[in-house]
Amino acid sequence: MTMRDYWNERAEAWSTRIDIGCGPATSTLDIARRLGPTGRALGIDISSAMIEDAQRRIDAAATSDAAPIELRVGDAERVDIGTDFDGAYSRFGVMFFDDPTTAFANIATALRPGGRISWAIWGALDRNPWAVVPTAATAEVLGASTAEWSPDGPGPFAYGDLEQLDLTLRDAGFNQIKIENFAQPRLLTNDTAANDLKLWLAVGPLGHTLTDADDDLCGRAIDAGLEAMNAYRTPEGWAIPALAHVVSAVKR
Ligand SMILES: C[S@@+](CC[C@H](N)C(=O)[O-])C[C@H]1O[C@@H](n2cnc3c(N)ncnc32)[C@H](O)[C@@H]1O
Repeated sequence: MTMRDYWNERAEAWSTRIDIGCGPATSTLDIARRLGPTGRALGIDISSAMIEDAQRRIDAAATSDAAPIELRVGDAERVDIGTDFDGAYSRFGVMFFDDPTTAFANIATALRPGGRISWAIWGALDRNPWAVVPTAATAEVLGASTAEWSPDGPGPFAYGDLEQLDLTLRDAGFNQIKIENFAQPRLLTNDTAANDLKLWLAVGPLGHTLTDADDDLCGRAIDAGLEAMNAYRTPEGWAIPALAHVVSAVKR
């Protein structure tokens, strides 16, 4: 089962939902299809480029059996989201807040009492060698820094401390907090490994450095990343451990 299936399976059939950090809206479209035409979906993202891309994808997917989708550019920490939504979803879009308590409280304001959240987030950095191992080796060849992935600041691995996450959610106005583990290796297959690893790394701290590197340097950096993962080699490619969580809670 993929993370997408796992997360979707835990989604209840609420009629109005927000997708926080909706990115290109693939997650929002999943939600809208689940809700059906009587529902309402709102996608929020801090990046206007993402929202433009999302709008194109939604227009192309136009389907009468899905909920209408509204999109809004804004920082979930402070944007006016509205009120009385049944649920707030996020697939890997809530880990980038400067002040998570403020952001979660702002999201809570948009929910009706009893409204729910369901968020997919990454686990601790040291439980995600798919990110750490190739990134470190690639960074060394590029002469780049990976400091952005500090577990203490905003970033994909910001919620490695689950007790702290639980406290933050309580402070922000949630209870009935449940944090489930989803441990499944990330796979790279022999044929497409170099390209796929480049795509993985392009959304991490090496993004710009990799994109700006010439083909030769980029190729050597990616080869170093693949070699560093040799401990996870399989006949078909690589299977590198990954840990994500599905977080659910109810607004008090
Ligand atoms: C890893 S992507 C996930 C996108 C989408 N949910 C998906 O699964 O395809 C994270 C998204 O969160 C957005 N984001 C980061 N910080 C944000 C913030 N403070 N408020 C709203 N969106 C934010 C980013 O722009 C990005 O599109």
